[in-house]
Amino acid sequence: MTVSKPKLPALTNHARLNEWIATIADLCKPASIHLCDGTQTEYDRLTGEMVASGTLIRLNSQLRPNSFLARSDVSDVARVEERTFICSRSEEDAGPTNNWMAPEKAKETLTALYDGCMRGRVMYVIPFSMGPLGSDISHIGVEITDSPYVVASMRLMTRMGSAVLNVLGADGEFIPCLHSVGAPLQDGQADTSWPCNDTKYICHFPETREIWSFGSGYGGNALLGKKCFALRIASSMAREEGWLAEHMLILGLTSPQGEKKYIACAFPSACGKTNLAMLVPPAGLKDWKVTTVGDDIAWIKRGDDNVLRAINPEAGYFGVAPGTSEKTNPNAIASLTRDCIFTNVALTPEGDIWWEGLTDTAPARLTDWQGKDWTPDCGRKAAHPNARFTVSAINCPSLDENWDNPEGVPISAFVFGGRRQTTVPLVVQSYNWRSGVYMGATLGSETTAAAAGAVGQVRRDPMAMLPFCGYNIGDYFAHWLNLGEEIEALTTEEAPVSLPSIFCVNWFRKDAGGEFLWPGYGENMRVLKWIFERTGGGGGAESSVLGWKPRFEDLDWTGFEPSKEKFEAAIRIDKAEWLNELELQRELFAKIGKRLPASFTAICDRLEERLNPTSK
Ligand code: GTP
Ligand code: SPV
Ligand code: MN
Repeated sequence: MTVSKPKLPALTNHARLNEWIATIADLCKPASIHLCDGTQTEYDRLTGEMVASGTLIRLNSQLRPNSFLARSDVSDVARVEERTFICSRSEEDAGPTNNWMAPEKAKETLTALYDGCMRGRVMYVIPFSMGPLGSDISHIGVEITDSPYVVASMRLMTRMGSAVLNVLGADGEFIPCLHSVGAPLQDGQADTSWPCNDTKYICHFPETREIWSFGSGYGGNALLGKKCFALRIASSMAREEGWLAEHMLILGLTSPQGEKKYIACAFPSACGKTNLAMLVPPAGLKDWKVTTVGDDIAWIKRGDDNVLRAINPEAGYFGVAPGTSEKTNPNAIASLTRDCIFTNVALTPEGDIWWEGLTDTAPARLTDWQGKDWTPDCGRKAAHPNARFTVSAINCPSLDENWDNPEGVPISAFVFGGRRQTTVPLVVQSYNWRSGVYMGATLGSETTAAAAGAVGQVRRDPMAMLPFCGYNIGDYFAHWLNLGEEIEALTTEEAPVSLPSIFCVNWFRKDAGGEFLWPGYGENMRVLKWIFERTGGGGGAESSVLGWKPRFEDLDWTGFEPSKEKFEAAIRIDKAEWLNELELQRELFAKIGKRLPASFTAICDRLEERLNPTSK
């Protein structure tokens, strides 16, 4: 339904929602308001309008049916961590790893920016559910935005539209998510193809559970169901309510005997979650099956039986395009045959898409992500390193049968992993919950193009949540520790429950010549198989300072010519490297200060002692 503002009737049956819509309309002063119903007709109309306005380019309908290319402004290509704020009442509750702003100050600043910010534009109201409609684990949000690109993306990425309002009823809870690109149009002013504003704020109010985003139209800055709601606000809700909201993929692993387990893995942005979630086992292990529940976010709750169950709150993938190919991720490629939005990839003369790594040789001519002519020798990248595809989960051939199950799936293992050229071994299993939480909490990773700023620098990225934890990271560690302790305490002989095992992996270790020591991608199945066996109490391993690790003979090498030397180099725990690593961990601990769990310092001391028995 589209209405012009002066005669604004009640848009929904939900009085508080209507009131919020009216308040925002008063502030932002859009030309009209549209309540999204989530239908294909609406999607087709919006994408058609965006093609007409130049925001989208329709791709060749034979090669890529019902698919589009968007080119963002060059200044708006990734998440802006420096402009992301947790606006809790007390600064300490945001903690040392978040930018903080006082809620009153944030509201004052943003209210001034929002005043009239939607002039000349349509204000869209998007009801969406994070998680299966009506599931106990799910939560509803309503995003108000002036970006039709956001509306179309939210339809691919979430369960969106009228059905959500039905679940919401007359007084259901929803998270209000306000977004504007911050580019009002004066009378007669022509629009640009990617409106945005140099001033950007991505603000979260955990106490009142609100999101206010201004100035960016890209990814996690603008699709507010994703990082803002499903991670920052949800992590804060999860702490209050005793569950977990994590930056994790969820995959199903079925053995040749038909036994199935689910595992959830936290890797930082652009470090291989989508790849692992859609893994195709290599020929030698083709009797194993990997199925995809989610590729980015997991909400995990304790069932009445104390088993941890996870849902993927999303319903689509916003995946890194460069490096995605038939070889590295055939299931992603198969998902992208139709009904996609591509952002900041290159365009072929035939009207199809291309990016670095899609094929071994680049096409002779392309239009690059900025709309410029491109040839292989021009010295520029054809696609932006953080170019992304947006596609609905139902396009994915490896989609798990339980991906939409409102009960969630039981989790057998948590895996933490970073991008580390040195130091961190291929895989280690922690000895217990506490040291596993420690392993995740002290994760380090090299920065990637997923966030604005320098790339390739090692930083601590606790549980891959550094940019996404909506509260004090020390409290977050304590929350993880508590959850495990509570479950352990409730375990009895009659009702035995085993906590998920915790592992740490690194696919990215390199040799002195800069070559990856581990083949990665589909071959990661060999490590997944070991993890599967270890969670059942099987699988060979040897102990080490950090935890259990596989010996060469403990991995299944069927169909692969392994180099024992490379494996040993990939799995090695080097004393000097680890003493240095512990120093970096201690820097994180010092930064966290008094909210750091006391056991962490003790674990660190003990690790140091075991690495360096003569030091004390
Ligand atoms: P976000 O969507 O940003 O949260 O990231 P993601 O973790 O889903 O990232 P994705 O799976 O798209 O990671 C893409 C990057 O990881 C590309 O640069 C890939 O080439 C690289 N990558 C993924 N798996 C592997 C692997 O097993 N080995 C190596 N060497 N690189 C990998
Ligand atoms: C990430 O950066 O971790 C992403 C992409 O998954 S975005 O949604 O833009 O945050
Ligand atoms: Mn992510």
